[in-house]
Amino acid sequence: MKIVIFGIDGYLGWPLALRLAARGHDVIGVDNYSTRRGVEEVGSWSALPIGTMEERLRAAKEVMGVDISFIEGDVTDYGVVKKVMQEKPDAVVHFAEQKSAPYSMMDLDHAKYTFTNNIIGTLNIVYAARDLSPRTHILKMGTLGEYGTPNFDIPETAMVKAIIGDREDEIVVPRWAGSWYHWSKVYDSYNLMYANKLWGLTVTDIHQGPVYGTRTPEIIDERLFTRFDFDDVWGTVINRYCAQAVIGHPLTVYGSGKQIRGFISLEDSIDSIYLLLTHPPEEGEYRVVHQYREAHSVIEIAHIVRNAAAELGMEVSIDHIQNPRAEKEEHYYNPIRRVLPSLGMFGLRKDFRSEVKVMLQDIIPYRHRIEEKRSIIMPRVRWR
Ligand SMILES: NC(=O)c1ccc[n+]([C@@H]2O[C@H](COP(=O)([O-])OP(=O)(O)OC[C@H]3O[C@@H](n4cnc5c(N)ncnc54)[C@H](O)[C@@H]3O)[C@@H](O)[C@H]2O)c1
Repeated sequence: MKIVIFGIDGYLGWPLALRLAARGHDVIGVDNYSTRRGVEEVGSWSALPIGTMEERLRAAKEVMGVDISFIEGDVTDYGVVKKVMQEKPDAVVHFAEQKSAPYSMMDLDHAKYTFTNNIIGTLNIVYAARDLSPRTHILKMGTLGEYGTPNFDIPETAMVKAIIGDREDEIVVPRWAGSWYHWSKVYDSYNLMYANKLWGLTVTDIHQGPVYGTRTPEIIDERLFTRFDFDDVWGTVINRYCAQAVIGHPLTVYGSGKQIRGFISLEDSIDSIYLLLTHPPEEGEYRVVHQYREAHSVIEIAHIVRNAAAELGMEVSIDHIQNPRAEKEEHYYNPIRRVLPSLGMFGLRKDFRSEVKVMLQDIIPYRHRIEEKRSIIMPRVRWR
């Protein structure tokens, strides 16, 4: 297959490119390096050192013998999107968005940037698909955070039956996002649904939970590392806790820590995306996919990280700090999963605890890079 990855330089984009190239697919990557710049802006860096794109591509060739094409460009520039869509790819994977909730909550400028970057990028992709390659499968990475934490099972469908007053109709599955970033993803989903309805585009809209991890089977050399963010703005919770543990910083649990989320490892995430690409929906279908392996509360995660660290001889404490976010701390949580299990994903129960231990072992050699940024571990961005 010929596959375009928008956002190839990112945490998920790079390992997906390696996976696809290793399995003989043609990969064309696009990126504008905005995550590198955003991480630098908040005074941070990736805990695992990553090379420039030129160095990464060279390493992929030398270590794995694969060629990956790359175009430096911005997805909000229609000319860039048109250029790759003219190649009539079998699929495009759209990761190229501002992905941090705290970054979007910094101030009006960061909220505006998040909306413009994410919503316009997605709009460019659906228009380019309509005009140049209507049969291309658009696989878009959204988030489970679009739904919030409703007191019902979250259907893995676009529409749901609703009874209002004494009348019944189908409505879009309700959403209540918890940051401007998450709202930008809600609008993306609406736009994708609408483009599918208007023009019959083939779409997989993935709603993923927070990803954790350092490796995939293709990352067999330091030069092939993917980024690993750990600061207050860019790090996802498990990655942040692991980084805190290796420098002996107390684990920063927001509020009571009873907030529940559905987590997935980097390896499972890449496996799932690969399955969805190789098992596309019917032509003209809009497919919703909930992508997570296990749901845990944040405090459970902190205990798992603390125990894994203890097994490696590191003592860490857990601190409950004032929650900088506006979110429910006690709630029901059950996003339904049918699509990925029906494709054979999540069958084997993986040992979450041993995966966390592997992560800790992977980042220990780079703990000096985390130590150097110790001052940007505590949350600086508040929701109100
Ligand atoms: N990592 C997670 O835990 C997680 C969970 C759920 C959803 N997601 C979503 O998955 C996608 C990928 O996440 P990630 O963790 O790899 O993020 P990332 O920031 O590491 O990767 C995104 C890449 O897209 C690029 N990019 C952003 N805007 C662009 C633009 N306008 N033009 C070109 N390139 C652009 C960035 O430079 C970056 O390399 C994001 O859309 C994110 O919202 C991530």
